[in-house]
Amino acid sequence: MSWSVETLARARSLADRYPQKRSAIMPLLYMAMREDGYVTEDGMRVVAELTGLTPVQVESVASFYGMFKLIPQGEYLVSVCTSIACMLNGADDVMSSAEEQAGVPAGETAADGVVTVEHVECIGACGGAPAVQVNYELVEGVTSEAVAAMIRWLRENRPETITAAELQERFGGARSFDPAISEPQGAIGPFPAFDPYRTAGGAS
Ligand code: FES
Repeated sequence: MSWSVETLARARSLADRYPQKRSAIMPLLYMAMREDGYVTEDGMRVVAELTGLTPVQVESVASFYGMFKLIPQGEYLVSVCTSIACMLNGADDVMSSAEEQAGVPAGETAADGVVTVEHVECIGACGGAPAVQVNYELVEGVTSEAVAAMIRWLRENRPETITAAELQERFGGARSFDPAISEPQGAIGPFPAFDPYRTAGGAS
């Protein structure tokens, strides 16, 4: 196993919470992604050992869900929603602008390794369409110009932590609603930032 002693201890403790260890496959795959930057073959083997599944069974889950990345990602994963509400509000233009600014088509990472762009299905912010995420931090009411400016800003500033509040303030437009509770910790990489995978604030 290539994982650190600390990560393995955390993974075993997590698997022990479930009556069936295989039920821990999803959070363990997120840990694998955090450990290596994406879900590597070695990471899938570790998850298989921890859960009692075969590596093929683990890969069948990892390859099914779009948030598990099986290839390296850029520092910033820019996800443009192209589902119906966003599409009707200009998402195709936002997507084209993001691809042009990044210099790669959706699904690929720019040669500098800073930005990956992808299109995603509805991310639950239809009222604020078109919606975009950067490392799963949401920004609503995004225009073609704003997404291009956002990618330039990411490249020039390389922020360590991405927060939805800052993205919205800098690059957002109309929102679906103003959330009463803010989530100030933000994301520190192109992986979902919630317990038990650790946020910027280090929740365990
Ligand atoms: S259709 Fe884009 S957020 Fe729902």
